[in-house]
Amino acid sequence: MPDFGPLVVAWQQRHGRNELPWQNTRDPYRVWLSEIMLQQTQVTTVLGYYERFLQRFPTVAELAAAELDEVLALWAGLGYYSRARNLHACARAVVALHGGRFPPDAAGLQTLPGIGRSTAAAIAAFCYQERVAILDGNVKRVLTRVLAFEGDLASSAVERRLWDQASALLPEQGVDRYTQGLMDLGATVCTQRSPQCLLCPVQSLCRGSASGEPTRFPVKTRKLKRSRRENWWLWLERPGPAGPELLLTQRPATGVWAGLWTLPMFDDEAAARAQVPGVALEPLPRIEHALTHFDWVLHTLRAEAAPAQVLAGQWVAREQLPAYALPAPLKKLVDPD
Ligand code: ADE
Repeated sequence: MPDFGPLVVAWQQRHGRNELPWQNTRDPYRVWLSEIMLQQTQVTTVLGYYERFLQRFPTVAELAAAELDEVLALWAGLGYYSRARNLHACARAVVALHGGRFPPDAAGLQTLPGIGRSTAAAIAAFCYQERVAILDGNVKRVLTRVLAFEGDLASSAVERRLWDQASALLPEQGVDRYTQGLMDLGATVCTQRSPQCLLCPVQSLCRGSASGEPTRFPVKTRKLKRSRRENWWLWLERPGPAGPELLLTQRPATGVWAGLWTLPMFDDEAAARAQVPGVALEPLPRIEHALTHFDWVLHTLRAEAAPAQVLAGQWVAREQLPAYALPAPLKKLVDPD
């Protein structure tokens, strides 16, 4: 498919996204930060975080010098918090092992924490014009459709075949624009449920579109079975010298919301109520939070009363909350604007 690359490049120039804050720069620090934030988060959400992050940490050296807790607090709400830990570890590795400069090619970038093959390739294409293929979730969708790729990507051997095809499709010229074009196509035209084939620059080449059933790709034979979890939060407040204080607890260093701060959490309502016997608790509307592998139903019981017994945790003044890494649904609950 020799026309594929040039068609994507030409389309990107006219119809792609060219004014995002991480574009029009070849600074690997800025590009790296955006690629990590964009890995599992949409552009509109990333925009505000990206600016705040760069204001606080204008260089990789400043990020490396920060405490992890501060990085987590700035990340709070973006989700997938291992990204923030790896981000911090990566900044430290760049400073400690590479003299404060990001490695100058994809192979070197890929040795750093949190930078996988596709992210390394994206940074190298954008910053160094290196001719290497990306293959993130959106691009897998675009390429499997264009190629009518029948394999199940759950198999690593099959995924390697798709990587090879992705490399074979690279254009000779303009790999940076091509890379952005694939991302833009995946985000705006070749969408999961309703691809806009009539707007697609490669529709004439696309075997998936020709089959009449482009959404059949990527082929998934094993279905992910989602489970459901239910927990109870206890929202306790007490007056403090600087206004009301909330009781927060820190999550363990591994698992969902690792290291983040939440309200004390219990497996059932009785266990939550047993913490504050005799205290009237107001049930708040339940929160439904979708994570990758399960749906989480969170109930909240609220009381403006300190518990009689000492609960494990930390009393935090409301105005101190921005310094704590809170998961998105809790941020919204305690600070709805
Ligand atoms: N998603 C991942 N990388 C991106 C980029 N550079 N622009 C827009 N969305 C992206």
